[in-house]
Amino acid sequence: MTRKLVLLRHGQSQWNLENRFTGWVDVDITDVGRKEAVAAGKLMRDEGLQFDVAYTSVLKRAIRTNFTALDEMDQMWVPVYKSWRLNERHYGALQGLDKAETAAKHGEAQVKIWRRSYDIPPPDMASDDPGHPKFDRRYAALDEQALPATESLATTLERVLPYWHDAIAPDLKAGKTVLVTAHGNSLRALYKYLNKVSQDEILEINIPTGIPLLFELGDDLTVQSFRYLGDPEAAKKAAEAVANQAKSKA
Ligand code: 3PG
Repeated sequence: MTRKLVLLRHGQSQWNLENRFTGWVDVDITDVGRKEAVAAGKLMRDEGLQFDVAYTSVLKRAIRTNFTALDEMDQMWVPVYKSWRLNERHYGALQGLDKAETAAKHGEAQVKIWRRSYDIPPPDMASDDPGHPKFDRRYAALDEQALPATESLATTLERVLPYWHDAIAPDLKAGKTVLVTAHGNSLRALYKYLNKVSQDEILEINIPTGIPLLFELGDDLTVQSFRYLGDPEAAKKAAEAVANQAKSKA
């Protein structure tokens, strides 16, 4: 039996529009982002997808995208589970900075390493930064030592995988059709794991906002196929645009 899993990055956020590093900052989606979420719902509905469960993060850009897409499918009744483990990668001291300005200051090569490398994290957020997760009550139940001040893709995958193994994979093995609405890098981490992508290849993987990525998995959850729904060329161009966000304008 083929299992169906959709990975959906949230629609355009306010800081995607402003080209700022976002990470764990809880910005909302823009009107364009909401329209992307509706379009994602239409694509998934036209694909005939009937979700049994959805998973998302504790950040409103993903929560609202998930809600909006399921609404468009008339599947708002589907159980939705939220976890910090699906949050975007924490961008450390880069959070709030303009990506192009950061590239002008530190060089495009350094910013590409921070954005897309596997095991090199951005600089730490200061421990007394008011935006540090330890001051946010949604993470109050977590051990303060477990809360990141920055994350690489590797450490992001380390905190996503337990949720995959404990929650998402068992639903897929039980034959459920699953929607995971999350973020560019938490989804890159899952993508790397599912497709067994190397540390070199993952450098070149970018996930566009609001375009459903449909995986068909075998009984043991090996990937049989995966594709973006809708126009493949549009998905390719959107992913390239994500890669180019950190081109210096200097
Ligand atoms: C962010 O956190 O800034 C974005 O969601 C992802 O940014 P990136 O594509 O620069 O990693």
